[in-house]
Amino acid sequence: MQDLAKKLHAAFAEAVARPATHPSGKNQDDHNAMVKQCVDGLARLSDDHRRHVDIGAAPDALTRYGAALLDQMIDSDLAHLVADLWPELHWYEIFSDPSISEALSRGLITAPISGTRGQLVSGELLSGLFLLAPHTHYPLHQHPALEIYYVLSGEVGICHGRNKSPMQIKAGDYSLTPPNQVHSLTTGDSPCLIIFTWTGDLANENWWWDEQDGIWMRTCWQRDAKGTWKVARKEHLGDDVIAHSGDA
Ligand SMILES: [Fe+2]
Repeated sequence: MQDLAKKLHAAFAEAVARPATHPSGKNQDDHNAMVKQCVDGLARLSDDHRRHVDIGAAPDALTRYGAALLDQMIDSDLAHLVADLWPELHWYEIFSDPSISEALSRGLITAPISGTRGQLVSGELLSGLFLLAPHTHYPLHQHPALEIYYVLSGEVGICHGRNKSPMQIKAGDYSLTPPNQVHSLTTGDSPCLIIFTWTGDLANENWWWDEQDGIWMRTCWQRDAKGTWKVARKEHLGDDVIAHSGDA
């Protein structure tokens, strides 16, 4: 696709120019500053820095749900861009480790657009597509990157913190997850297609939280050379981490 960086910036900026269904951050100014950080990062992507991407084999979830999700996308510039880009995307399963179920590994797939993978080379902004299969629960996790999800097709519940009710976002809505905010995602009977950005601290870590026999732990996932996240280590979930996780 010609002018991918320019088109992505313009379409994403338009998508997040409307008020979020569920604003995040300390207040509206804080929310707006985080949106601006994302849009400014997109503006710095350049078509001068392109790489070739091998498409590879389609993961099972793409074969099952991709065509219908593509067909049902909301009518927006971002959706048109994704439709044009679709044949050039390399999809793969995001998480792979013996400690999680095969259904969970197969239920979460991604196709990078910018970053360390994807067509647009960038060290400061990761973007791409994210597909969740029906009845998939992406467990509580936190990462230092600021994350925006814009839903293109379907819907998903996103929960910030262990004790809050999920926020339902559907096609045309976006969510903003501040750095280190602990969050989970859950789909219902339908799959969901999202376009996402990660900006800020892009450290190679994604911490999953889980409770074992009444004790909260967190597991560090790290990307391998192919981009797949693998379990690296596990530790007790400390009060200092909880205090900075937006859990309350
Ligand atoms: Fe996340």
